[in-house]
Amino acid sequence: MKLYYKDAGQGEIVVFLHGFPLDHQMWENQVEALQANYRVITPDLRGMGQSEPASDVTSMEQLAGDVLSLLDELKVEKAILAGFSMGGYVAFSLLRQAPNRFKALVLANTRADADAVQGQINRMKMSASILEKGADAAKEAMLPKMFTEQTAHERPELVQKLSNWMSAMKPIGLVHACISMAFRQNSVPMLPSIQIPTLVIAGQQDQITPPELMKGMASEIPNSQFVEIEGASHLCPVEQPEAFNQALLAFLEQVK
Ligand code: MLT
Repeated sequence: MKLYYKDAGQGEIVVFLHGFPLDHQMWENQVEALQANYRVITPDLRGMGQSEPASDVTSMEQLAGDVLSLLDELKVEKAILAGFSMGGYVAFSLLRQAPNRFKALVLANTRADADAVQGQINRMKMSASILEKGADAAKEAMLPKMFTEQTAHERPELVQKLSNWMSAMKPIGLVHACISMAFRQNSVPMLPSIQIPTLVIAGQQDQITPPELMKGMASEIPNSQFVEIEGASHLCPVEQPEAFNQALLAFLEQVK
């Protein structure tokens, strides 16, 4: 299969994994801030953005396997791994499959626990509605949760940009992503075994992955730091890029 990715800059390698229903474009501010001093690799996960969907249903482990194949192809032996939300679920799977390939971890607006039954039901409903109405069904459900009310009110151009990204997603790729998330493994038991330095970043007003939940997750990871970003909801790296990048760059300086 073919995976779309962007590869910018030179230096220590950082791989950024996007969330749902999004693609590599969500990391544009981070690429901009890092590329002078780092090599930044931003793939579109299988079925998302410009990466083709598979012919059959995809699991979280396969999404991670694709990223490993990409690293093999690019001859990247070791990288710093950053996952946002769904990208964080892929990051946990990568750490299960190839713990020695990563030297540090950034977990942004994500969670380690698996979906409970109600969550799985909601994902199946979302899948049905995407099949029926297209990518806009995912957009209608997710867009209002991505930014704070203040941002939604004061920055209509940012909301429009996000809306355009979400509308351009391939419906079948989104359905596969929903299914991969619904049946992902519980990563809570592995948290104490994560030995690499880890930065956990939360958005103060994030209701999908609330800061208290993420603080709890960080407390289970031995070598971790926790940062909460003010004025941010779920899509922290896009909503508050300066504060996000400040925390990110400070961490990268420590671990590179
Ligand atoms: C995401 O931002 O990737 C999603 O909110 C993750 C999820 O629905 O669990």
